Amino acid sequence: MEERDFEYQGPQVTPGSGSVRWSAPSNIALVKYWGKHGVQLPANPSLSFTLEACATRTELYYYPKKQTGTQPEVEVFLDGLSAPGFVPKVRQFLERARPYMPWLDQFGFRLETSNSFPHSSGIASSASGMAALALCLVELERRFYPQMPEALFRRKASFLARLGSGSAARSIDGGLVLWGEHPSINGSSDLYAIPYPGEVHAVFQEYHDTILLVDEGEKAVSSTVGHGLMHGHPYAASRFAQAGGNLERLQDILAAGDLDGFIEVVESEALSLHAMMLASTPSYILMKPGTLSIIEAIRDFRARTGNPVCFTLDAGANVHVLYPAASAGEVYPFIREVLTAYCKDGHHICDRVGTGARTFGTP
Ligand code: DP6
Repeated sequence: MEERDFEYQGPQVTPGSGSVRWSAPSNIALVKYWGKHGVQLPANPSLSFTLEACATRTELYYYPKKQTGTQPEVEVFLDGLSAPGFVPKVRQFLERARPYMPWLDQFGFRLETSNSFPHSSGIASSASGMAALALCLVELERRFYPQMPEALFRRKASFLARLGSGSAARSIDGGLVLWGEHPSINGSSDLYAIPYPGEVHAVFQEYHDTILLVDEGEKAVSSTVGHGLMHGHPYAASRFAQAGGNLERLQDILAAGDLDGFIEVVESEALSLHAMMLASTPSYILMKPGTLSIIEAIRDFRARTGNPVCFTLDAGANVHVLYPAASAGEVYPFIREVLTAYCKDGHHICDRVGTGARTFGTP
């Protein structure tokens, strides 16, 4: 699909009022998106596991706009409390969505949103938050245009979510999700994410992700700034090529259920992401001493016991511990007894590969 396929095709809209609800999951990248150009287009393809427990629920109330002009009329409530700090980001998102949803100009919005994970956990809520908002908007659009094909519904949600936050494009579908064009993967696109179309061995369909909250709180350098530092970065070109190569390798690994290959690629991706930060100008370090202690302990446990457990990192100090469901009996006690000592107050979240975004009844 091309960009123009996402323009509104339905009849003229008469503004009314009501609300729509969607819950969207967080995701953890195996091949990392780090570097972008144009309007939220990725420098390389990325692949993620959709999570199940970490999610954002949003109820979007809409009403005929009270003021004239094109400035979006928006209020945001987080966990029932007014959150004006989120308004500029939501406004920017609505501005970017406008060319594809011209009816937006006729409405005012109140967003009531909550995360299943604590706000201060250091887990980025931008992916799940932007995906939930994008889904609410496409759901509203479907009220004006009920003939919208189901395939377009999900794609448009991913396309719009990308405009809010790149990784949010991967928070619509479940399982393994791919965003970004790769020559060997049919249907892959820089504009939106798709369910990973390759063969996936059963072992990767039930993977666990235990998230260790090493450092709760605001990150020193935001992802958006980090992406910006990839412009003119001395290793940018080789990093983008490395990501493409790792995705290529993962295709065979995922099909074969090759756990050793998976561990090698996933850990290399995590450390390469942080290597880019270490080598940026200005340089910065998001890992904390606890992050490195956890990485060492995981590698030591794996060497000693042969359990196929590995780590990945997002753009922060927290560690995602990945392992097959079948290994949980041995791996989780090790996490609880050894690794949580490096977490603030032992905080961690037990998550697993999930099924994707859904509507919900009672907020
Ligand atoms: C390290 O999607 O948060 O988590 O597009 O600027 O909102 P923006 O960035 P964002 O970047 C995520 C980076 C990452 C890797 C990944 O999720 O692929």
